Amino acid sequence: MAKDSSNSQLQSARSRLMRLALMVLVGLIFLLGLVVLIVWLVLHPKKLQYSVEDAYITDYHLSGNHVNATYNFHVQAHNKNKRISVYYDSAEVRVEYDEQIVATDVIDPFIQPKRNVTDLYLKLESKDAALSRHAVRTLRLERTAGSVQLDLKIKARVRFRLGAWKSKDRTMKIYCNQVVANWAAGRSFERKHCDASF
Ligand SMILES: *[C@@H]1O[C@H](CO)[C@@H](O)[C@H](O)[C@H]1NC(C)=O
Ligand SMILES: *[C@@H]1O[C@H](CO)[C@@H](O)[C@H](O)[C@H]1NC(C)=O
Repeated sequence: MAKDSSNSQLQSARSRLMRLALMVLVGLIFLLGLVVLIVWLVLHPKKLQYSVEDAYITDYHLSGNHVNATYNFHVQAHNKNKRISVYYDSAEVRVEYDEQIVATDVIDPFIQPKRNVTDLYLKLESKDAALSRHAVRTLRLERTAGSVQLDLKIKARVRFRLGAWKSKDRTMKIYCNQVVANWAAGRSFERKHCDASF
């Protein structure tokens, strides 16, 4: 009899302890959620946006299956964040035509302040770049048609700064696909929005 009652006492003590542990756990999860929500509300991070505002080719010369050309791009980087600035530590740029890389370059590091639009004027060159036969054929057609479709791809190492805190470096891919470039400067151009992802 006495043994039974001490057993049930032990059991109820154990279940009380379990209930307490559960309550503490739920409380912690709730608190963590609240902290995340407050941080998010305060920072309200906005996605970085990129667009191509102009694109044209100059110094174009096609000979056999080799091409010389300069690809000029006016790219805008939009940082709409009120409290976050962006450090571009390094960036590689490349131009693709018909799924072939025709020119590459790097962008000098720069810091983008909060709520800022930065204009980037990129000039990439093809120097005697070899093209596939298919690319040569379509390039000839596009030359007569008056515009050329290019892909501009940027791979950047970025950090974010919020007050005194700086994030770690992250690799961001900015793809501006199917940019319809002109064969000369100063012609009308349809703005192209880019996809940015980590
Ligand atoms: C490109 O330019 C280089 C030197 O500037 C020249 O040697 C080469 O033949 C040119 N290639 C084409 C395809 O015009
Ligand atoms: C954006 O930041 C750059 C670099 O600090 C500055 O040169 C430019 O004037 C700024 N643009 C705007 C629209 O604030």
